[in-house]
Amino acid sequence: QAAQKDGYKHFMLKEIFEQPKVIRDCLTGRIQKGRVVLPELDALDIPGRLTIVACGTSYHAGLWAKYLLESWARIPVQVEIASEFRYRDSVFLPGDLVLTISQSGETADTQAAIRIAREAGAPILGLCNVVGSSIARESDSVVYTQAGPEISVASTKAMCSQMVLLLLMTLSWGVRKGVLQGDILERCLHDLPLLPDQLEAELPTIREKAKTLSQGYADARSFFFLGRGLNFPLALEGALKLKEISYIHAEGYAAGEMKHGPIALVDQHFPTFAMALGDELLQKVASNLQEVQARGGRIIALVNPGAAPAVEDPWVLPDMWGPLKSFLVLPAVQLFAYEMAVYLGKDVDQPRNLAKSVTVE
Ligand code: G6P
Repeated sequence: QAAQKDGYKHFMLKEIFEQPKVIRDCLTGRIQKGRVVLPELDALDIPGRLTIVACGTSYHAGLWAKYLLESWARIPVQVEIASEFRYRDSVFLPGDLVLTISQSGETADTQAAIRIAREAGAPILGLCNVVGSSIARESDSVVYTQAGPEISVASTKAMCSQMVLLLLMTLSWGVRKGVLQGDILERCLHDLPLLPDQLEAELPTIREKAKTLSQGYADARSFFFLGRGLNFPLALEGALKLKEISYIHAEGYAAGEMKHGPIALVDQHFPTFAMALGDELLQKVASNLQEVQARGGRIIALVNPGAAPAVEDPWVLPDMWGPLKSFLVLPAVQLFAYEMAVYLGKDVDQPRNLAKSVTVE
């Protein structure tokens, strides 16, 4: 096993650092002559409505994609936790497509969702990492994520690969429907291939900052992770990663929802990890963070140069275009959790009570 870690101390760290390669592999052959190449989708009608079903980290990737699919492909999207979906009496409509997202392709709840979709007569698209897995076999069409084997129980690179493919799916459907603006397509297809090198250059710096900050906050018993828009699912993922491997309680929340209850918890012992990047929601997030500060809450905030709200611990990430910012936010929250777990002496790759793939209910 030591050899497979390629000199990294843990599989989780190795897999976080593999993300530039993962993006490269996911893009290989997928962009040609200014077009997205996804023949797996061409076999299916453009969905009138998309129901994304998944668990855990894969569910967060689905939530992230909802923002893009609605905005750029104008497809109504609902994102469902598989264990809820399977026991609800969901309404299916003509034109529905069910998209299951699963790294392992073996998660029992997600498999059950496929059976329900099948009974309702809805076509099923799988987004899976493991070739030939149950979910891949049971779907009508499969897009593979090309992330390579993921060993660490806490999922990292799989989410990165899912996000790349979901972005490409959005572009593909947006073009087929004729609703995607040309400048968005052009910008995406131009910037995406540059992303792996940019991320590769940034990862060591992100890790260093994660290490320093995690040590400064290692006495916290609870954390909020806050974001809005595309950063809301990433806040959920940041909280999940911290819980999974450091056993620190963390809650991911939509920053604008804090005022409806959770803010009552904030004091100097309950820090916040915020996503306050230079996007169209920055001013809204900044005012949410002021509310936290007014109650004595300490804040770490991922920010972009020149656009940072005044917080105790700004964490500057280079600016990227639009949704590509997310590909830096993701390793930042992953590495924060990783460094926290290492500092606290936890078993990073085999956290207590968790399994890599949950094949029973
Ligand atoms: C388990 C793992 C998580 C993973 C979830 C869904 O709970 O510990 O890391 O996100 O299953 O797995 P899947 O293979 O369906 O993506």
